[in-house]
Amino acid sequence: MSSSGEAELLHTFKGIPFTTRSSPELLKSLDTFDAREDDVLLVSYPKSGTHWLAGVIAKLYNTQVTITSPIEFGDISRLEELNKLSSKRIIPTHLDYNMLPPNFKKKKCKMIYISRNPKDTAVSMFHYYRDNPNLPTVDTWTAFFDLFLKGNVVCGSWFDHFLSWEEHEDENNILFLFYEDMKKDLPKVVKEITLFLSLNVSDNDIQDICRKSSFSEMKNDAEKENSDPSHTVCALTSNRKLIFRKGAVGDWKNYFTPKQNIRFQEIFNEKMKLSKM
Ligand code: A3P
Repeated sequence: MSSSGEAELLHTFKGIPFTTRSSPELLKSLDTFDAREDDVLLVSYPKSGTHWLAGVIAKLYNTQVTITSPIEFGDISRLEELNKLSSKRIIPTHLDYNMLPPNFKKKKCKMIYISRNPKDTAVSMFHYYRDNPNLPTVDTWTAFFDLFLKGNVVCGSWFDHFLSWEEHEDENNILFLFYEDMKKDLPKVVKEITLFLSLNVSDNDIQDICRKSSFSEMKNDAEKENSDPSHTVCALTSNRKLIFRKGAVGDWKNYFTPKQNIRFQEIFNEKMKLSKM
């Protein structure tokens, strides 16, 4: 990461790097945020398929719902804006479990956590860093690989994020999903989501929703839209083209050297030794 003039793009809160789009005042106030029992949280580490999941969920409701931008993005006025929303709220977040506003936990709000092979997540994030002027510059994949493994990237360590949520995987109000399962059998995962959210959606409609949520359809739609970054799932860019890059499983093989793969695997095995993954 080049240091000159860019340090101000990130700041650290409770040990986790955030972009300056998340004001420290907002982050401090999250503890007092007032959740509603029918709020649904879409939780992810960045680049895990959040937009894909949000796109699917938006199509499942036939009542009015609002998918907000992530709860941790913006300044203190964000919370007031969210309070004023009269429709049901679908709220994305990249927060780890410990930083989540306690009210969501107390009210047992439904939460869907989407995860992705961290190697593909790292490659996706590398491109996102490279092409996004709101994030620090990364010159090479090698440099980014080191930052990712150290958790020195926006939202911190993938391992810490995943583990903080995995600990709560068995709670009834939390559904764990994997990007790779969505790629393999989207209708099956969508069915699972409808059951979790208690939504009555026919198999025909599920098939139709899956067709409309394919990578190519979503990429095409994104190219037509001109979205406002303060009202989209990713508030770090108004350029939706940055989100729909390749949409593949296993792209890491085109980037990891054999040595990097061994190093990643060693760290993965060490950090994840207590994980069920
Ligand atoms: P790649 O960069 O590997 O292509 P997020 O929404 O959490 O930022 O994640 C972005 C990643 O999800 C990108 O991965 C993007 O291409 C992928 N993605 C978005 N929509 C998708 C879809 N409909 N099908 C498959 N992958 C999708």
